[in-house]
Amino acid sequence: MRLLVTGGCGFIGANFLYAMRARHPDWRLVNLDKLTYAGNLGNLRALEAEAGAHYAFIHGDICDRELVTRLLTEHQIDAVVNFAAESHVDRSIDDPAPFVVTNVLGAQNILDCARRAGTRRVVHVSTDEVYGSLGPTGQFYESTPLAPNSPYSASKAGADLLARAYHETYGQDVVLTRCSNNYGPYQFPEKLIPLMYCKATKGETLPVYGDGANVRDWIFVDDHCRGVELALTQGRAGAVYNFGGAAEMPNIEVVRTILRLTGQDEGLIRFVIDRPGHDRRYAMNFDLAAAELGFAPSVSFAQGMERTIAWYRANPDWLAEVQSGEYLKFMDSWYKERA
Ligand code: NAD
Ligand code: DAU
Repeated sequence: MRLLVTGGCGFIGANFLYAMRARHPDWRLVNLDKLTYAGNLGNLRALEAEAGAHYAFIHGDICDRELVTRLLTEHQIDAVVNFAAESHVDRSIDDPAPFVVTNVLGAQNILDCARRAGTRRVVHVSTDEVYGSLGPTGQFYESTPLAPNSPYSASKAGADLLARAYHETYGQDVVLTRCSNNYGPYQFPEKLIPLMYCKATKGETLPVYGDGANVRDWIFVDDHCRGVELALTQGRAGAVYNFGGAAEMPNIEVVRTILRLTGQDEGLIRFVIDRPGHDRRYAMNFDLAAAELGFAPSVSFAQGMERTIAWYRANPDWLAEVQSGEYLKFMDSWYKERA
């Protein structure tokens, strides 16, 4: 398998690349990443050092038609897994435009270039947020109508519809995955869990939006990566697969867990003004992925949180570099080493 992974320097993409390298040492992995603020070349240092000709990093944009076409043909790519995205809801509220560019136009460019190059399969990685918000009961199914509420989720829904249209119109082999909230190593500390870990360890206050009762369905990142791998290797062309962690939790409980694991006091919690359009509850039904792919999350929330906090504790340099902006310099040294 010659696999193009886009957005591989981000949180899930990096975990996915390590997992694929470990499980498929004969695969050739090509990572295309623009290195936005969320892309960290340092995440893949160990992979790059060890994988030799089985791994290549390409600095570039999924919106670049010529580059993507060249990569697909020169590397004789069999399949693409598209993780590249602007991924943070709060940033999409501040400035939606880059979300439309990368998440919609970039995704469409990947689909189009792959179709023209005759690439066998595209796996497009999407999110449960495209379904909108649930009340106190019920779950999201693949058949649930899309009702995105933030510019981020609207841009992801736009790409989902294009992926569907490319399959229906051109018969292209596209598999769409939608997953719930991930957590684990390498997550950028703007997202709830690493942000609260950073604040708790510094004894700073923890900003909980609204009443803290918004519910997310948490999945350890390795389980999501396994789901994407199954979609890639066994998924049905044109199918949509939901993945979830079977770990629904109000935000306040997540924050309390972090305080417990870091030995900090609940007095640090501050309820702050709510996120506009804040979805109340997500819950994924993943019966289809279980039946067709044999998918099941294997890491409980308690185990996953212990592993996550242990990773951040063991990697203070990673956090310090990300927080100081030092990680952005890895790109310069990468270019210098190859000049
Ligand atoms: P992330 O923000 O950590 O990483 C995104 C990566 O994409 C970065 O390396 C960034 O440099 C790269 N990128 C951004 N724009 C690009 C462009 N135009 N061209 C090439 N590369 C570009 O995101 P993440 O949390 O790892 O999420 C990965 C994917 O999974 C996204 O598509 C996201 O919508 C989806 N997803 C995330 C979650 C979650 O909980 N984090 C859950 C479900 C689905
Ligand atoms: O559901 C999948 C989605 O999960 C992915 O598609 C997104 O890419 C990913 O960012 C994530 O979106 P959320 O908005 O759910 O994640 P975030 O970590 O930003 O917030 C999780 C919850 O915590 C949400 O209800 C908002 C709340 N929150 C978040 C922050 C950053 C707070 O209460 N305080 C905070 O400071």
